[in-house]
Amino acid sequence: MDVKLKVEDIELDKSLRPRYISEFIGQSKILENLTIFIDSARKRNEPLDHVLLSGPPGLGKTCLAEIIANEVGVSFKITSGPAIERTGDLAAILTNLEKFDVLFIDEIHRLNRTVEEILYPAMEDYKLDIIIGKGPSAKSIRIDIAPFTIIGATTRTGLLASPLRDRFGVNLRLDYYETEDLVKIILRSARILGIEITQDGAQSIAKRARGTPRIANRLLKRVRDHAIAGGNGKIGLSIAETALTKMDIDLLGLDVIDKKILDTIVNKFSGGPVGVGTIAISIGEEVNTIEDVYEPYLVQIGFIKRTSKGRVATELAYKHMGVKKSAQVQNLF
Ligand SMILES: Nc1ncnc2c1ncn2[C@@H]1O[C@H](COP(=O)(O)OP(=O)(O)OP(=O)(O)O)[C@@H](O)[C@H]1O
Ligand SMILES: [Mg+2]
Repeated sequence: MDVKLKVEDIELDKSLRPRYISEFIGQSKILENLTIFIDSARKRNEPLDHVLLSGPPGLGKTCLAEIIANEVGVSFKITSGPAIERTGDLAAILTNLEKFDVLFIDEIHRLNRTVEEILYPAMEDYKLDIIIGKGPSAKSIRIDIAPFTIIGATTRTGLLASPLRDRFGVNLRLDYYETEDLVKIILRSARILGIEITQDGAQSIAKRARGTPRIANRLLKRVRDHAIAGGNGKIGLSIAETALTKMDIDLLGLDVIDKKILDTIVNKFSGGPVGVGTIAISIGEEVNTIEDVYEPYLVQIGFIKRTSKGRVATELAYKHMGVKKSAQVQNLF
């Protein structure tokens, strides 16, 4: 199981996606701020400031962007960094926007530089510079576009060019969810999907969902399958625990790949430091996947540390893996 989007998530998304702030669970600080910004923009009769949403996959960036458009009461147009190849693609999108519309640019760190430059005057002054003709007779003209809001999403703000990052008035970082919020999300999803589940069943799934709503929803469905195959379809604590253990998800929600990463650092490289590139080669995963998907959670739960020399496994990781540190390794801490 990984945190990336799967076909089944897209189906799940349609029914489970919260549509308004009142349906969005957790991230209370972010919601509080957004409510104020939306209200203020409405009173000023101006578009909402451009919003940058960042955080690991599956925490609700796309959801939140759509919710913002719904709350403002405007259209929600979606594109993504890699989808806008040429400046003409972006110009076509921008000239079709209506007053106060929300343009969502997913994976905004993957926009190419020439496209980015067109975006700057559009974001600042709602102007678009178009070049007409070719060669010496080419002319640049500047046209007005409707005042609008860009919502950019990225798993890593560090990859965003700073002139682009600076043009977002609102910068919000989504964090991993508390277990109690995930319980609420699971109970809500179960209600929508018509799944019977007990409070402790939901708690058991929530604890192993890596602080991530998308994973919580995915695990709920898998556990439901086990409950149907091996019982009356109702999810209680023991069915949840049995099903999750069968799926190789441990008590902290770590899966096979997390364990391979930890095993590499702890056993092959005596606890580190070891570079992420070396870890990637060693377990046959891509560096980006490790950095975007796996590492943030392992850092969050205090199992690995990023140091200038590479990744280091902590005492907690050793304990969880049941490995004793050698005297030589202990001296490093
Ligand atoms: N706060 C929430 N309350 C209820 N459900 C949520 C919440 N946040 C996310 N979800 C659920 O998790 C799913 C994943 O969220 P979303 O697609 O918005 O994540 P994302 O941050 O955009 O991920 P990615 O980086 O992969 O694009 C949603 O479809 C929704 O069902
Ligand atoms: Mg998304």
